[in-house]
Amino acid sequence: MADDSGTDSFLDDFYPYRESRTFRSIPTEPVSRAEVLEQVTTMAHREDAMGDAGRVSGSIYSGDHEHYEFLTQVYGQFAHANVLQRDMYPSATKFESEIVAMTASMLRADAAAAAGSDPAGVVTSGGSESLISALYAYREHAAVTRGVKAPNVVIPRSAHVALDKGAHWMGIEVRHAPLGDDWLVDVDAAAAMVDDQTIALVGSAGNYGHGLIDPIERLSEVALSNGIGLHVDGCLGGFIWPWAERLGYPVPAWDFRVPGVTSISADTHKYGYGLKGTSVLVFRDKSLRSNLWFTAAEWPGGLYLSPGIAGSRSGGLIASTWAAMVTTGEEGYLNAARGILETAATIRDGIRDRMPQLKVIGDPLFLIAFASDELDIYLVNDGLKEKGWRLNALHLPPALHFAVTRPNTRPGIADEFLNDLQWAVEYAQAHHGEPAASGAVYGIANTPAGFETIAALMGGVLDLMYEPAPELPA
Ligand SMILES: Cc1ncc(COP(=O)(O)O)c(C=O)c1O
Repeated sequence: MADDSGTDSFLDDFYPYRESRTFRSIPTEPVSRAEVLEQVTTMAHREDAMGDAGRVSGSIYSGDHEHYEFLTQVYGQFAHANVLQRDMYPSATKFESEIVAMTASMLRADAAAAAGSDPAGVVTSGGSESLISALYAYREHAAVTRGVKAPNVVIPRSAHVALDKGAHWMGIEVRHAPLGDDWLVDVDAAAAMVDDQTIALVGSAGNYGHGLIDPIERLSEVALSNGIGLHVDGCLGGFIWPWAERLGYPVPAWDFRVPGVTSISADTHKYGYGLKGTSVLVFRDKSLRSNLWFTAAEWPGGLYLSPGIAGSRSGGLIASTWAAMVTTGEEGYLNAARGILETAATIRDGIRDRMPQLKVIGDPLFLIAFASDELDIYLVNDGLKEKGWRLNALHLPPALHFAVTRPNTRPGIADEFLNDLQWAVEYAQAHHGEPAASGAVYGIANTPAGFETIAALMGGVLDLMYEPAPELPA
């Protein structure tokens, strides 16, 4: 029961199911399947409601429950299968190799092949693993071919933080290149950060925060002239840009047609419309990919070979990702992209035309980020929350973004959003000077001490996520 103390309302938000039975040890008497099914169905319906209403940025990319049911049916055929055992499950070889081939072809690996390379890729568990695997491949490659012992990587300040995470794990120094006035990486500044220990450059297409494509052709020139690789993070945009280009949108060059691009990540579990848990990492050449292979010929457990961090992996995800791609087809991807790009354009132009208090960041196509010089943008977010929207809050500088996905493309949603955003701007004006609920944490995060405090708080949240709900008061 919520009371005024704040603690109980926090617990209600964090543990909305705490009224139901909490398991702190394996139940002596098994719970019936019917009871479990009823419980999880109730939770799933409750939690899907917001995404299904089309009021969420990103997160839910397809939103088509018939598509999900079909994918889950395919998943179920192989959910229990361990694809490490290829003698038992040769279907995994078909699914995985074809996922890589289809993605590589979409990313124009034909251009790399025509230039004499041998493109090759892997399926990973998500964008983070693709980025971290790419870093690992570049680190190994640089160590073997150039004797690099103190590796560093040069990435845009706006690049996804999974790169920082991977570099942290692997002892790679991260050099953050600043952004220019156009919100894209400052290529001259990035070039100046490269030295003889640099293993690779990174550019995003598009970046998480603002959905923009860095100047990949210029980064390519820097990479080629320094003899280093260039990874393009297309985790978010990789399954949007190829279709946007075909639809005639102005998409700057970013794929394997750019000669210095040596690897690209593209997430099948985002705009590829697969179930959560897969991404594809494609290398311009097999020689780079082979750095990921782990083989053990002298292990008492037998001969062991594995392509990445995971050992055992479920065949279900690979099969369902393959199924998502072949049943969506070019036609499905083009239609989905058309709806997304048109909805995003309505939102972007509506903000530019109707809301002088807000400014759209850069010139985005499918993910619209906006900030304000005169309003507390987090108060705008409070207003949007009150109207039932869930956008993503950014900071440094403060902004919000709306990554448009298929559920947002339903007729009327973009107009409803613009009307509610207008209302939220007025809400922010009316509450000017008051602390924003959704910005309370970000408010502290602009000094070194503030960053430390927030980091400690976030560590506490991770601890809490692994704590079952506390006992209810008697
Ligand atoms: C540009 C970009 N790269 C990488 C990632 C990380 O992907 P994941 O959350 O699947 O690990 C994201 C996630 O949103 C992203 O937007």
